[in-house]
Amino acid sequence: MESYPKLLQVLKGNILSPAPVWLMRQAGRYLPEYRALRQKYSDFLQFCLTPDLAVEATLQPLRRYDLDAAILFSDILVIPHALGQRVAFHEGKGPQLLPLRSQQDFSRLGLDRFLETLSPVFETLRRLRVSLSPEKALIGFAGAPWTIFAYMVEGGGSRTFSQALQLWYRDPALARLVMDLICEATEKYLVAQVAAGAQVLQLFDSWAGVVPSPLMEQVIYAPTRRLLDFLRQEQPDIPVICFPKGIGEKIPTYVEATGVTALSLDTCVDLNVLLPQLSPRLPLQGGLDPQVLVAGGQILEQEIRRLEKSLAGRPYIFNLGHGVVPETPPEHVAQLMRIVRDRG
Ligand code: CP3
Repeated sequence: MESYPKLLQVLKGNILSPAPVWLMRQAGRYLPEYRALRQKYSDFLQFCLTPDLAVEATLQPLRRYDLDAAILFSDILVIPHALGQRVAFHEGKGPQLLPLRSQQDFSRLGLDRFLETLSPVFETLRRLRVSLSPEKALIGFAGAPWTIFAYMVEGGGSRTFSQALQLWYRDPALARLVMDLICEATEKYLVAQVAAGAQVLQLFDSWAGVVPSPLMEQVIYAPTRRLLDFLRQEQPDIPVICFPKGIGEKIPTYVEATGVTALSLDTCVDLNVLLPQLSPRLPLQGGLDPQVLVAGGQILEQEIRRLEKSLAGRPYIFNLGHGVVPETPPEHVAQLMRIVRDRG
């Protein structure tokens, strides 16, 4: 049992103190060694799809910090790319996609070359599994269906994703076709990640918070439930952590409606209100404001202790409420690790 990853122990319902820890976006631009590696390649998608580079970027944060898990270095937008949509990342502008708005746009996409295009991701996972020590968990991931739908239809980032929401009202039949294709693609992608060595999966629903209540069932709950049911059937031992960012008071309904095995908390939820509504057995993760990590110092210690106190007695994985931001000083991550470990 010594080398069985602590992250997996918690996901099975065990309570560990100190809690295991990893950070969303633990690899990336706040690390000088990532910026140096990234500088040599202009195309971010190709960077993600080159195993030598993706393996190196994944391992960089684990060389600095004693994190309990490695998360595959890739991006959620490799799915639209592998379905045949044009996806580009421009420095400082965020991702840009050729928007999908009509039946004709949809007819250009398909699964024909999907897994083949993503084969470098599976190669990256295979290499990671052999280079990681057995007590480190290897996390695979995908965007949740709605967040992928949102980027594909909108054509890029947005505060409101109004075009993506509009499609559900304007042409629900097309919206359902797009959603079905995304679900099928994501099912294949995640099952292949597990076959290549991923031991845990995380679903990022970064834009769940923009969906109005009457659309929640069609847009969020049903596709997530479908995906989780499929994964449970194909890979019953693989835990899936869901991160429905910004849904606030709908979390208990989300848990009930989707059957999630573990939930990642954002920074908006009031734990005093939420926790009494959740089963004490549901593994939880996250919650620390990434801006507190930018600040560091005393407030970082205070906020970590406050979270730990709220979540004591529950299976809990330490993490942030969203990704590490580029302006985070790497020393503050070292400080976070010392504070979280100094316990139990
Ligand atoms: O360390 C890790 O967490 C693994 C790598 C990872 C990346 N993106 C690398 C990345 C993961 C898990 C993601 C997920 C992702 N990508 C999400 C869900 C999580 C979240 O942040 O809400 C989303 C919405 C995306 C889409 C995306 N990718 C955006 C909006 C951007 C541009 C804005 C930004 O943060 O840079 C990206 C680019 C991206 N993905 C970078 C990295 C390291 C920066 C690109 C670069 O280095 O040039």
